[in-house]
Amino acid sequence: MNDLSFSKQKGVAAIPMILGIVAVVGLGILFFQLNSVQNAFSGAVEKYNDANTKLSLKEEEARALSEALYSEQQKNAELEDELDDVEDELDDLEKLSKIDSELLQKYSKVYFLNEHYTPASVIEIDKDLRYPEDKELSINKRVAPFLEGLLRKAKEDKVDLRVASAYRSFDEQSTLKSGYSVTYGAGSANAFSADQGYSEHQLGTTVDFTTVATKGALDGFNSTASYTWLLANAYKYGFVLSYPEGNAYYVFEPWHWRFVGKDLAEDLRKKKIGFYDMDQRDIDKYLIKFFDK
Ligand code: DAL
Repeated sequence: MNDLSFSKQKGVAAIPMILGIVAVVGLGILFFQLNSVQNAFSGAVEKYNDANTKLSLKEEEARALSEALYSEQQKNAELEDELDDVEDELDDLEKLSKIDSELLQKYSKVYFLNEHYTPASVIEIDKDLRYPEDKELSINKRVAPFLEGLLRKAKEDKVDLRVASAYRSFDEQSTLKSGYSVTYGAGSANAFSADQGYSEHQLGTTVDFTTVATKGALDGFNSTASYTWLLANAYKYGFVLSYPEGNAYYVFEPWHWRFVGKDLAEDLRKKKIGFYDMDQRDIDKYLIKFFDK
């Protein structure tokens, strides 16, 4: 064997060893890289978990804030409701302060209006709505539109209806009553005419109706179609019959109608009772709606 072939043999024998070294180094590098990847992955997982925890905390905070916001909104809504109620009450008080509390009092031998009482404001009733036309008649200014509405509707329905008497002052009532007492005697006059201070006419909200056909007569008014029409329609304009048959104060007065406001007139009709049958405390609750259309 020459030197060359001996060297070849030694080189071939060294290959497995070299391969072994390369494999060990390669594996070492691979292991190192794997370890780095694993560390990087663990770091990323940790960051992800941290971020998740933070997100949960933020979500919890957001939920708590949203609940607090809702609760504040509820409180605000309640406060607004309370404020609305207070405003409504103030509006009602202001409205009530502008309505004369006498307007729904019972008169007729029950309640006395003194000689100084006059309605806040009265206006003349149109000529074509009264009988006789040259008799000056006036009515509470705020009741006038209701009375006119009633009379215009009657005209539209071809019903003969006029006003024979309306606002009467304390003195006018006194003169009228004295005249009746002289003509009919005090006893008889008391049955159909109020003493001064006790007449609903002094309020300026009350009228006596008549017809042209009967030339302004009051007696027999209950036999007219006009009276039948009033029974069916007057309540729609806030008027009620003060002294129906069998009332405790005066004779039956089919011509005498008092304005009490639409709301009360409708309720009295529903309940089938007269104004004087209702307790004054219950009547007073309607004062605020007295002039409501
Ligand atoms: N005729 C009624 C009762 C009045 O005089 O007021």
